[in-house]
Order: sequence, then C-alpha cells, then structure tokens
Amino acid sequence: MAVPGLVLLLAAVAAGASRAPWWESIARLQPEAADERQAAAVRELLERLVGPRAASGFSVSVNRSLAGPGGLDTYRLSSRTPGVVDVAGSSGVAAASGIYRYLKDFCGCHVSWSGSQLRLPDSLPPVPTEILVTSPNRFRFYQNVCTQSYSYVWWNWERWEREIDWMALHGINMALAFTGQEAIWQRVYLSLGLNQSEINEYFTGPAFLAWNRMGNLHTWAGPLPLSWHLKQLYLQYRILERMRSLGMLTVLPAFSGHIPHGILRVFPRINATRLGSWSHFDCACSCTYLLSPEDPMFQVIGTLFLKELIKEFGTDHVYSADTFNEMRPLSSEPAYLSRVSAAVFRSMAGADPGAMWLMQGWLFQHQPDFWQPAQVRALLQGVPLGRMVVLDLFAESKPVYPWTESFYGQPFIWCMLHNFGGNHGLFGTVESINRGPFLAREFLNSTMVGIGLTPEGTGQNDIMYELMTDLGWCKEPVDLQQWVTEYAVQRYGVRNAKAMAAWQLLLQSVYNCSGVCINHNHSPLVRRPSLRMNTELWYNQSAVYEAWRLLQSSTGELAASSTFCYDLVDVARQAMQQLVSDYYLDIKQAFQGQALSRLLTTGGVLVYDLLPELDSLLASDERFLLGQWLESARSMATSDREAELYDLNARNQLTLWGPLGNILDYANKQLGGLVLDYYGVRWSLFVSTLVECLNAGMPFHQNQFNQAVFQVERGFIYNGKRYPARPTGNTLEIAQKIFLKYYPSAMKRGHLGAA
Ligand SMILES: *[C@@H]1O[C@H](CO)[C@@H](O)[C@H](O)[C@H]1NC(C)=O
Ligand SMILES: *[C@@H]1O[C@H](CO)[C@@H](O)[C@H](O)[C@H]1NC(C)=O
Ligand SMILES: *[C@@H]1O[C@H](CO)[C@@H](O)[C@H](O)[C@H]1NC(C)=O
Ligand SMILES: *[C@@H]1O[C@H](CO)[C@@H](O)[C@H](O)[C@H]1NC(C)=O
Ligand SMILES: *[C@@H]1O[C@H](CO)[C@@H](O)[C@H](O)[C@H]1NC(C)=O
Ligand SMILES: *[C@@H]1O[C@H](CO)[C@@H](O)[C@H](O)[C@H]1NC(C)=O
Repeated sequence: MAVPGLVLLLAAVAAGASRAPWWESIARLQPEAADERQAAAVRELLERLVGPRAASGFSVSVNRSLAGPGGLDTYRLSSRTPGVVDVAGSSGVAAASGIYRYLKDFCGCHVSWSGSQLRLPDSLPPVPTEILVTSPNRFRFYQNVCTQSYSYVWWNWERWEREIDWMALHGINMALAFTGQEAIWQRVYLSLGLNQSEINEYFTGPAFLAWNRMGNLHTWAGPLPLSWHLKQLYLQYRILERMRSLGMLTVLPAFSGHIPHGILRVFPRINATRLGSWSHFDCACSCTYLLSPEDPMFQVIGTLFLKELIKEFGTDHVYSADTFNEMRPLSSEPAYLSRVSAAVFRSMAGADPGAMWLMQGWLFQHQPDFWQPAQVRALLQGVPLGRMVVLDLFAESKPVYPWTESFYGQPFIWCMLHNFGGNHGLFGTVESINRGPFLAREFLNSTMVGIGLTPEGTGQNDIMYELMTDLGWCKEPVDLQQWVTEYAVQRYGVRNAKAMAAWQLLLQSVYNCSGVCINHNHSPLVRRPSLRMNTELWYNQSAVYEAWRLLQSSTGELAASSTFCYDLVDVARQAMQQLVSDYYLDIKQAFQGQALSRLLTTGGVLVYDLLPELDSLLASDERFLLGQWLESARSMATSDREAELYDLNARNQLTLWGPLGNILDYANKQLGGLVLDYYGVRWSLFVSTLVECLNAGMPFHQNQFNQAVFQVERGFIYNGKRYPARPTGNTLEIAQKIFLKYYPSAMKRGHLGAA
C-alpha cells in the first residue's frame, strides 16, 4: 500500500522541481461553484441545446478530482449505461466540452455564432471505448476589452445566454465580465465627492465604453443614462451567475490609474498628469488624466473601487487593468514603470489578497520603439511572478513571448486576435494558429498557461474560432485538410462533396494568410473612395470565386441548412467585395484615361447594380442586417431621448467613429441597409464627382471630395430612417440572380488579377 503513495509523492516532487515557482498561484484559481451545481448547469445547457434528449440520452457529472496536474481540465466520455452517453468533467466547462466533442464526432453536429446544426440520429451512437481527454491548457480564455463595445454592447440576457452556452461548449473557462462596471464607478466617484455633471462628462456613450475604460476617450457620445446603469447591473448579475455555475473564472475590471477631471477639483493636491491625445482625437474627448502611482490616492481609489465591485459581484480573484494601452507612459525609466505596475497590483491586493492581474500584452507590440526589453521587463517584474497573467494578444501574427524570454517569467496566454473592429471579410491564419500554441509551449523556459480568443468583434469567420477552440484540447497540430472536411460536414449536417471542396479552397486561400497578417478590411467597398485605394489581397481570388460556384451549385441539397445559407451569403459577399475592387480599378483607369463613357458604364454598374444587389442579398439574411444592430440598440432605451442617443452611438461606431470621422470606417461592416445607404451613397458621390471633373476638364481634388463626402457620411447617421430587424426577400433567389449576373465576368477577372 505504501508503494503507490511513495510513487505519487516522488512524481509530485519531480514535477514540482521542473515547475515555475508560481505554479501554485495558478493552480489555486478554481471555480467556487460546487461540482453538483456545475453539473446541473451543464444539464440545463444541454437541454437548451437538444431538448428532452438531454435527460433521456445523457448522464452528466462533474468531479473536480478528474482534473490533470495543476488543475488541467479533463473530460471522459463513455457508454457504461446502455443507451446513455456518460459525460464526466473536472468542471462544468470540461463536461460541456466533452458533450460538444461527442455531438460533433458522433452525431455530426455544429454550434456557431451564425447558427447551429443539431440534428441528432434517432438513437445516440454509443461511445465504443472510453475517451479521456485532458487539455494541455490550464486556461482557455475569451474576449477582448473591445469586444464589449463592438459586439456585446446592445445584448440582452437572451443573447448573452446563447453566448455563454457557446463559450462552455467551446471550452472557454476564463472570460472578461465587464458589464455594469460604470454603475460601480459612478457610486465610487459620488462617494469621493464628484458631482453628477462631472461624472456625466467623463463616461462615453455605450458604444465607446471600451475606450473610456482604457483611458483613451471620455465624453464622446455620452452621457450614460441612469437606466443604462440599472440594466447593465441586472445583466451582469445574470452573466456572472451563469458563468460561475458552469465553472468559468470571471475576470473583473480593476483600477488602472485613469481618473475623471472632477477628481482634481475634489483633491486639488493630487498628482495627476494629463496623457497625450489618443488616436485621431483631440483633448475634447481624449487626453485623460493619469494618477501618479506614488500618490496615496492611487491606492485609495483603486481599492475602494475593487472592494465595492467585489461586494456587489463577488469574485473569482482575476482582475483586468491596462494602464498604457496604446498610450505612451510619461517616462521610459524602468524604475518608474515598475512602480506603476506595482501600484496597480497593490491596489488589487488591497481589496483581495489573492488577486491575480490579467493584463493585455498589446502595448508591447503596438509601440515596440518604447517597449524595449528593459521597459517590458520592468513593467512585468513590478508584480510578483505568478500574480500576473499576460495575454499575448496577437500571437498568431506578432507574438511577444519570443523576444521577452517568455514575458520574463510571468505566465502568459497565447491568443488569436484575428479580428479588428468586427469587420466582415473572410480571413484567417490557419497555419499559424495550428502551429503557434505548440511552439510556444515548447519554447525555452516557456511560461505559457493557456490559449485564448481575443477578437475585437465576433460574429464572423466561425471557422477560425472553431479551429482555435478545438486546438485548445489538442496536444499537437491537427491535419488541416481533414479537419476542414469534417467542418463542412458538421456545419451542414450533410456530406456534400461540393461544399467540402469549397471549404478546401477557402482554407488554402483566404484562411491561409502567412507572415504578419492584419485583418483590417481595407476593401474599397467599405472605405472612403479616393484615387489611391489599396486593392491588394493575400490570396488567389479565383479560389473564392470557385468556392462561390461550388456553394451556389450545392443549394439544391443544402438549402434547408441555415448555416449553409449564411455561408452562401458570406462567400458571395466576399466575391462581390473582390468585384468592387475590380470596378474601382476600372473607374480609376477610365478617369485617368479620360474615357467618359467607360467611366459612366463601370461607375453605373457599381453604383446602380452591384452595390444594390449586394445590399439586397445581405438584407435577406437576419445575420447581416443593419436593422438588427440599430433596433437592439434602441431596445435598451427607456425613452425616446435614450433611443436617439443609442441610435447615434450604434451608427457612429460603424462609420465615422468619432464626431469628425476620427477613426473613419474602422469598424466597417457589410450589412443590409448600410451597404446601400452609406457605402453606396458614398460611391455614388465619388463616381459623379469624377464625371463632373472629367466633363469640366478639372483634376479630382481629394480634399474637396472629403468635405463633400463627410456630409454624406454624417447624413447617414442623422437620416432618421428605421431599418427592418427582419430579413426581406428570398436569399436563394437573390443569390442565384447575382451569381448568374456576376460570376462569368468575376471568373474572367479573377484569372487576370489573381494574387
Ligand atoms: C470524485 O472522484 C473521486 C476520485 O475518483 C472519488 O473518490 C469521489 O467519490 C468522487 N466524488 C463524487 C461526488 O462522485
Ligand atoms: C459640479 O461641479 C462643477 C464644478 O464645481 C460645477 O460647475 C457644476 O455646476 C456642478 N454640477 C452640479 C450638478 O452640481
Ligand atoms: C508626480 O508624479 C510623477 C510621476 O509619477 C513624479 O515623477 C513626480 O515626482 C510627482 N510629483 C510630486 C510633486 O510628487
Ligand atoms: C531557463 O531556466 C533555467 C533554470 O531555471 C535557467 O538556468 C536558464 O538560464 C533559463 N534560460 C533562459 C534562456 O532564461
Ligand atoms: C498555406 O500556404 C502555404 C504556402 O504559403 C502552404 O505551404 C500550406 O500548405 C498552405 N496551407 C493550407 C492549409 O493550405
Ligand atoms: C489562382 O487559382 C486559379 C484557380 O484555382 C488558378 O487557375 C490560377 O493559376 C491561380 N493563380 C495563381 C497566381 O496561383
């Protein structure tokens, strides 16, 4: 009897010897919900997914002693009881991941942002031999601070519930829980002596809170109505309760040092410095005050806020703060940088002695000239090793760990950022994400403790998130060709050769960007027209046209699948986006060659046919509707005035991004309504301006055009039009019509202009 014990002890000693000293503090982070509560939450999730089959076909249990070393999530699938699928997990999330694995591999199912494919066989296939999987990733993280604004800002509980289900099935066990924090800040500021107008002036409107929280912006598109705070608090209670019941660790916001101007009135002797302006904003909406970390008030405010937050929401002991996100520190003196991070951490630990700081590593690759090794090391090592986890936020393209000796000993999470601004556009770096996490784990003295998804916006490119979350449970890269074939089958619930071929082509082209790939959609379609637009692509566009043809020709068999319809629209959208570039180049050439009739023809097709057709295609699918975004904004309002404010927020974020087009079109989307009334009108003005210039024998003046087009852009925001939240028209018919009209010339152009 003594022998197994001794072996265990020796194994523990051996393992401990090779582990970093911070291993313990990471292992300690565990969900508080009891195993039975987690199991019950998973059973409810399963019932939302498959209805009564959940109870009759599955037996779900959670037992945390199933976990691997250091708390690594584990699930076990078996068919011990005839006719029943037994799922056991070391946490609710682990059990949910096991269920999803079963649904995918045994039943050919699929769950994604754009829809689900959950047709179960009449009798559930048994699991022939027990499957036991331990994730090599202690954390599987999700969310970017920007996702809060680009995607979740108008969500109600019903939409959140679906998201949390998606998270659990996809194995996410740590995520931000940022909703409602302004309600707590408001309370703290009032208690410090600020008055309401000072607070109102500080907060931005709902669609810009992500940047207010990071100290980038204030005032713009605000103030926040009282009802906003109440609704967000209510949402946050439900979000936290659900996430925790599934065994997820919630990450709460903490004080990063940014303060409202009003604090200076109340505490005139406070040592605060005004930061420089952010992005293309001036000091009317940016240049936030940063409280000196040495000022005693730093601890007072930071701890006060966190205590208040914990009192309201409880805690899982992980806190997020970003002091220098896209903002230059006042000094590059390493000692100063260490003092800042030490102060931020101390204010967390003052409220919660077990605090763990989760920090975005974006800054290091964003301003690499400032963040030299000495500066990075100083900032990171201002916090005890293991009390900070760094998100290597954009690791698929610009990983930071390789040039910082794995964050100088602080644990980190390898994250795929993938998306900027919630832009539409097929894009991915499959090879990089299929290799990157494994290379990072094998890196010399690696401190990697997990993988993550950190998209600025969700609801696009489902495939990349499916792949990345699958990889969260893998010990080695997958065979991508084989993987994508199964993806196509599960997504549509049918083994369709053409659909599989289409996905192969997409995988090899749009989804196979290599090198430093930045998915910021710069297609002329969604950018302010000029004669110097970027039409470069990272892939062979014929592949997209061919995938379009293949999907179009499988409508007969797949039309009943909602995810198929989404993909058909999305791939056609991508093809038309490519065509817009071709038309643009034609227009430009015609103008430069003074070929008026060609300019009129090409411009006419673009403005009067292609863009309206694209708009009608998008408008036929509820997942591509401007009205969905705007109406969900309005539905948060409790008065007409609030509705107007939210409508302005929602429209401005998609377009001007600021009062004057400060970050113009950053968050561009291809939505039914927006394509016609914003991009379309803009293109129309461009073409007619070129025609006028040619007629008058005048050159095209970009500055003049910019002034005129700004009125068009602003006009969209204030056009007073309501857009339907329900689709109109028959997707398949519209798609077919567009295909017949545009595919032949697309294919011809594709061969000429292939990348
Ligand atoms: C959990 O698993 C451990 C180890 O296998 C076992 O001793 C314990 O009884 C289990 N707990 C429950 C509630 O089944
Ligand atoms: C808040 O304080 C400022 C500065 O003293 C003052 O100008 C403003 O009128 C006050 N607002 C309210 C609502 O009391
Ligand atoms: C104010 O803070 C800055 C930056 O932390 C520091 O350099 C300076 O010495 C402080 N000033 C005073 C008066 O404490
Ligand atoms: C890796 O860790 C070992 C043991 O802790 C240490 O001796 C070595 O210097 C480290 N190597 C690097 C490159 O940091
Ligand atoms: C991606 O492209 C590279 C060449 O750049 C190629 O070696 C690789 O096989 C491609 N991957 C896929 C999945 O097509
Ligand atoms: C692009 O793909 C098409 C069709 O698959 C192919 O015929 C063409 O040769 C490719 N072009 C290049 C430059 O690879």
